Amino acid sequence: NLSGLDLRAEIERLRKDRNAVILAHYYQKPEIQDLADFVGDSLELSRKAADTDADVIAFCGVKFMAETAKILSPEKIVILPDMDAGCSLEDSCPPEQFKRFREKHPDHIALTYINCSAAVKALSDIIVTSSSAETIISQIPENQPIIFGPDRHLGGYLNRKFGREMLLWPGVCIVHEAFSETELIKLKAQHPGAPVAAHPECPPHIVDHADYVGSTSGILQFAKTFPGDTLIVATEPHIIHQMELAIPEKTFIGAPGADGNCNCNICPYMALNTMEKLYLALRDLKPQIEMEEGLRLAARKSLDRMLEMAS
Ligand code: 13P
Ligand code: SF4
Repeated sequence: NLSGLDLRAEIERLRKDRNAVILAHYYQKPEIQDLADFVGDSLELSRKAADTDADVIAFCGVKFMAETAKILSPEKIVILPDMDAGCSLEDSCPPEQFKRFREKHPDHIALTYINCSAAVKALSDIIVTSSSAETIISQIPENQPIIFGPDRHLGGYLNRKFGREMLLWPGVCIVHEAFSETELIKLKAQHPGAPVAAHPECPPHIVDHADYVGSTSGILQFAKTFPGDTLIVATEPHIIHQMELAIPEKTFIGAPGADGNCNCNICPYMALNTMEKLYLALRDLKPQIEMEEGLRLAARKSLDRMLEMAS
């Protein structure tokens, strides 16, 4: 029975006792973001996980992010408050099917979005995140054919921006897919002149309205520097918490779904992590990410390529 426990104080105590670091993605609930040692995008969180000298990494994000932490820091205990915190992009790309896709295109390299399983990473040549994809793609010779998975919207965005013809795996993020263009146009009409910032996981009919397209950390940076007073944010709405902390005098509005509000764009997987589950995970050191060493080493190669090429 957790009622009556001061969860925040208990988490603070366990963090010290366990020599744990709490890493959180921008899509986590505000109370989790507020007590994390570090809040960031996928690339920044991987770097933190690789560099930390803590004994335990409490990863408040989704499973592929916690797995990435384990791949890069195998000697650490990596806990994820809820092991069911998956990702629709990962689910869209079963390793066996991805392997067959690769085999059909033997002259192509596999450039793969970090939102995938360790097994798909192991089948890939270079991993990208949304904040590193552009830097990395610009280093790949134009005559090198590429397959890109699992996010067809990020892949399509990169194809258009770089004039490439990467073959795309047909996965989507259910959260970014849910924005409504009609409702976005209505919202823009209500706030004339307000810019739109969008994540590249959004479909083209949303990205086409954007004044800025980038990763969560890129969108946050744009929010800190745009000249107006109101910003429309087309990504998971929990990131607005960091914007309101950094620039309280400005207004941030989550882009709407078909029902006219931004609640349908809350990531259901990220939302599985709660303060209660974080407390229990730190107390019991479970659920823990475990990975077979052969798989870890194979997945590490493509992640290391990303870390080298992104810097
Ligand atoms: P970022 O790397 O931009 O934080 O994106 C992670 C993610 O899952 C977006 O849906
Ligand atoms: Fe996956 Fe989309 Fe959730 Fe990001 S927002 S973790 S891509 S389902």
